[in-house]
Amino acid sequence: MTWAFGYWELICTLLFLGLLFYKYLIVNRRGLKNKKEESGGLQPPRGTAGWPVIGETIEFIASGYTSRPVSFMEKRKSIYGKVFKTHILGRPIIVSTDPDVNKVVLQNQGNVFIPSYPKSVIELLGESSILQMNGGLQKRLHAIVGGFLRSPQFKARITKDIQKSVKLTLSSWMDRENPQQPLYLQDETKKITFEILVRLLMSVEPGEDMDFLKREFMEVIKGLICLPVKLPGFRMYKSLQAKERMLKMVRKIVDDRKTAMDKNEAKSSGMPNDVIDVLLRDTGESDGTQQRLPLDFISGNIIEMMIPGEDSVPMIMTLAIKYLSDNPTALACLVDENDKLKKQKDELGEEYAWTDYVSLEFTQGVISETLRMANIINAIWRKALEDVEINGYLIPKGWCVLASLTSVHMDEENYANPDEFDPWRWEKIGASVKSNKFTPFGGGQRLCPGLEFSRLEISIFLHHLVTTYTWVAEEDQIVYFPTVKTRRKLPIIVTPR
Ligand code: HEM
Repeated sequence: MTWAFGYWELICTLLFLGLLFYKYLIVNRRGLKNKKEESGGLQPPRGTAGWPVIGETIEFIASGYTSRPVSFMEKRKSIYGKVFKTHILGRPIIVSTDPDVNKVVLQNQGNVFIPSYPKSVIELLGESSILQMNGGLQKRLHAIVGGFLRSPQFKARITKDIQKSVKLTLSSWMDRENPQQPLYLQDETKKITFEILVRLLMSVEPGEDMDFLKREFMEVIKGLICLPVKLPGFRMYKSLQAKERMLKMVRKIVDDRKTAMDKNEAKSSGMPNDVIDVLLRDTGESDGTQQRLPLDFISGNIIEMMIPGEDSVPMIMTLAIKYLSDNPTALACLVDENDKLKKQKDELGEEYAWTDYVSLEFTQGVISETLRMANIINAIWRKALEDVEINGYLIPKGWCVLASLTSVHMDEENYANPDEFDPWRWEKIGASVKSNKFTPFGGGQRLCPGLEFSRLEISIFLHHLVTTYTWVAEEDQIVYFPTVKTRRKLPIIVTPR
């Protein structure tokens, strides 16, 4: 989070806080009272709004800096029950830690619950981003992108790309002047995954354009959590400017691709290269609109799709290595499973194929356990479009609901010894659980379209790392706010096996 305070920012901050205070005192309290009257006695969940303006934000953020980020939720759950109300990050919110309530919130997409991100995220994404839009267009976009990412042809090709990128990065570690110097795994994994993500979205290869995208995208995401003020000098302004610069470049790629496609209509029936291709080719038949997607819309969404994909995969890779470093027995099992596969592949003279990751059950258990313990998207934000009753709780119209995924994943009612890294538990549960007690990729109509691709990419990274190297990790800690990260970027010293 970047807070560069100048005079104007101070004035705007005060105005912003003043507005929040007004909203808190007048609008929200009046809104709640009306709801009680309108809903025939059924009341919103219990809870407290905390202090004026800041509500319970300080306690909420502070818990993110402890080793138990769910302590904020747990404390309130023990007083008010699994669904409670609070006031955090500038607004009143109903928090659900109940898997059944979360399921209803996630399934009821579009007609009752719509995405409701913090204001800065809304500003940066724009209204036509898949992450914010609702209805037919969201369904169409989700189906096109999901269908492409799940297709065996895509997975076969991207498996080769991932392997190449992983092997290159791993060998670059040994090519350093002093390979015994620690390297920062959190940064290294980002290098691998960013290039793969850009390739699958728009087929840009490493080089000048890739460096430009990397640089500008880092500027864009700095604005995700900041004051939503679009004036020169403010963080939000800088991020929007960076997004504009990226848009220009992506729009040119989209335009060139469209021109080539129009010239060569017959050839465009083969396997699409990337997400730009699938979006350009879609004729709108599936949803009956018979309309192609506008080029501006495609360019914007290509950039916006980088947001959920950019940080999530490298963090799971990094955290899996952190948990494995702290748990030598689990690491030994992972190495054993992957060594067996490598031996088998070497004997047959074959490379790692995309279907292999599914057969690596323990590896999948390690990934599931990492996702459970350090959920990157720890909660899903929605807003109710009308009064809704779920399991006896009233969610009044206009209220924001935070479906806390982490609380469900760390609840001992759902997982025995939830604080223990125990990949073996997935042997019993099954790594690909379709249960509402394990939802790191969300659910319903917005279930992450990158789910299988992410598991594949993490599996390939773990496979090559553990079959070629050993490492010693330095002491580090996980922090959970504003997003999950390791405090020191996980320094490790790597040695060839
Ligand atoms: C470990 C990695 C990942 C995790 C844990 C994750 C998690 C999630 C979650 C929880 C959602 C649902 C958000 C909501 O309901 O509001 C989501 C949506 C989404 N994810 Fe992922 N994601 C991951 C990787 C990726 C990757 C690599 C991509 C891109 C290739 C991606 C693209 C998307 C998109 C486009 C959506 C929006 C879907 C829609 O609203 O229709 N994700 N992700």
